[in-house]
Amino acid sequence: MRIDIVSIFPEYFAPLGVSLIGKARERGILDVCLHQLRDWTDDVHRTVDDTPYGGGPGMVMKPEPWGEALDDIITSGAATGQDQPRLIVPTPSGRPFTQQLAVELAAEPWLVFACGRYEGIDSRVMAEYATRLRVDEVSIGDYVLAGGEVAVLVMIEAIGRLLPGVLGNADSVTDDSFAPGAMHNLVEGPVYTKPPEWRGHRVPDVLLSGHHGKIARWRRDQALRRTHANRPDLLAALDPATLDKHDRAL
Ligand code: ADE
Repeated sequence: MRIDIVSIFPEYFAPLGVSLIGKARERGILDVCLHQLRDWTDDVHRTVDDTPYGGGPGMVMKPEPWGEALDDIITSGAATGQDQPRLIVPTPSGRPFTQQLAVELAAEPWLVFACGRYEGIDSRVMAEYATRLRVDEVSIGDYVLAGGEVAVLVMIEAIGRLLPGVLGNADSVTDDSFAPGAMHNLVEGPVYTKPPEWRGHRVPDVLLSGHHGKIARWRRDQALRRTHANRPDLLAALDPATLDKHDRAL
């Protein structure tokens, strides 16, 4: 997968050289290209923002540098035989970033992330590229960050670990909270490793029993309990048809 990121702070993305994503890049599974938006300005101050039309606080990112940058990036990909990218714009007013969207984006060959700062990017940029590309404005949660950079790091980590060959054990992806399957829309229950007792806290006996059926049942119970405690919204949205008799009794 190829990922281009445009930002006025490309140094925010140093963590993409580390750990899983860093290794995926070394191994050629992921090709990340960072771009400084200011390289597409043509004034001495390398200006990327201006005051908002209609008044109000803060500054808005000017459309011209974004247009120049995105045109160049899209053309460079076309020159290397790549199709059109999907454009992702992080913003608190976007559609929610979910595991389902991460799975969908992990199947794309090419993503371009456009990181806004200040009050956001002039809306005509999204309107312009929506005539040519799939454009998604995406929010990672109901809070406001200082810019899109950290949101893009979050999305790339969630997407990157789904790429074939990135995780050592392919099962870890299917076991995830929110992963499609039997435990879909439940959060994961607690996990344990050795030793069997630590500071008086024992690992639940069932996990040491070797009884796979009982372990699976216990894990599902724990997932349901945790979802009930921490994410009642998910439980309320659960399709009752996916619950068995034992689940209902909990
Ligand atoms: N930029 C600022 N806040 C954001 C959020 N919650 N999600 C995505 N991008 C953002």
